[in-house]
Amino acid sequence: MAVNASDIPDMPTLQAIGSRRSYRYYDPTRTVEDWKIDTMLNAARFSSCQGNINCTEAIVVTKDSDLWDEIEECISGFNVQIINQASHLIFWLTNLNAWYGRANDGLSSLALSGALTKYHGWNYEFTMTQTVPRLMSFPAERTEILLRFETGQHVSAAMLAGQSLGVGSILCAFGRKPGGVEKAFNLPPHYRFTWGHAVGYPLEDMSAGGQRPRIKFSSLFSNQEQGNPRQMADGLEDALKAKGLIQEQAPLPGRFEEIDKLAADFGRDPGVVSWPEKEVQRLMNDDDWDFGPHIRDRAAAIIAEGGLPEYPAEMVETFQKLMTEHGIDASKYLPE
Ligand SMILES: Cc1cc2nc3c(=O)[nH]c(=O)nc-3n(C[C@H](O)[C@H](O)[C@H](O)COP(=O)(O)O)c2cc1C
Repeated sequence: MAVNASDIPDMPTLQAIGSRRSYRYYDPTRTVEDWKIDTMLNAARFSSCQGNINCTEAIVVTKDSDLWDEIEECISGFNVQIINQASHLIFWLTNLNAWYGRANDGLSSLALSGALTKYHGWNYEFTMTQTVPRLMSFPAERTEILLRFETGQHVSAAMLAGQSLGVGSILCAFGRKPGGVEKAFNLPPHYRFTWGHAVGYPLEDMSAGGQRPRIKFSSLFSNQEQGNPRQMADGLEDALKAKGLIQEQAPLPGRFEEIDKLAADFGRDPGVVSWPEKEVQRLMNDDDWDFGPHIRDRAAAIIAEGGLPEYPAEMVETFQKLMTEHGIDASKYLPE
């Protein structure tokens, strides 16, 4: 049956952004409709792209693919369950040749569209004798950074579009076999596999146990110069809560029971991972984090319950190395 506009829900943008979670439990019996996947791909297609070069491509894969076993061997271990329950796996690719091969036409298409105008100093001769030659002289590594950034934001649009349709997403690292995905798909050398993206109908509640905590707004964003904290506009936090961008922070009541039930249903181990008591205490006292009451209550409860792990001695080496190699103060991560 053909899709109608009335089939498409109207979730406001800010609500879709606030409702998005990385879903890790999917209903293996449900397949996401093609039109929803195609809507997500269209959201990517219409994202902003440098010079209109359209460098972001994707391969949509389902478990009946002949390549599934090979793909599974490449994905990081903690993602294996996820992709096997998900409905689709989208492989987001960055075509570096789009930069070199399409910038001329991309810019021309923008001029024809009325987007590139003389107002901003665009001029055909200058473009062809200065701008394009300069852009075309970029080494592949520079082009790769620029274009992968672009692919990232295309993926983000796809995830948000999915969320607004009730479809869950998660990005999945393929760290187990570097180069394995490129090999499985026999990608030409100018293609980069940028990220894997699992899509499906979540088995967990769409709140996935609440919005995950973030660093405080004023610790992330500055005014005029870096480190000069920007304060949120008066009343905005409450207004954004009302509009669904800022949602109730995790863990919502019932989250741990939900996880244990999912584990029981699929014959997996119940429970979540915990850090040592001192680490949890230190984190809760870190003023950069925007922690609300649920996570503070959870931290207090696991500390009261006890049985938390100790620092493994091996961690010392990693954090000491961080201090010497990157000059960052990682001493807070070291045991006293
Ligand atoms: C580039 C990228 C790669 C990620 N890779 C993984 C992954 O391999 N496995 C996983 O479980 N989560 C992965 N995530 C999801 C993050 O862990 C998640 O975004 C973070 O915990 C915040 O939670 P939220 O997305 O629900 O807000 C990835 C996220 C990003 C942006």
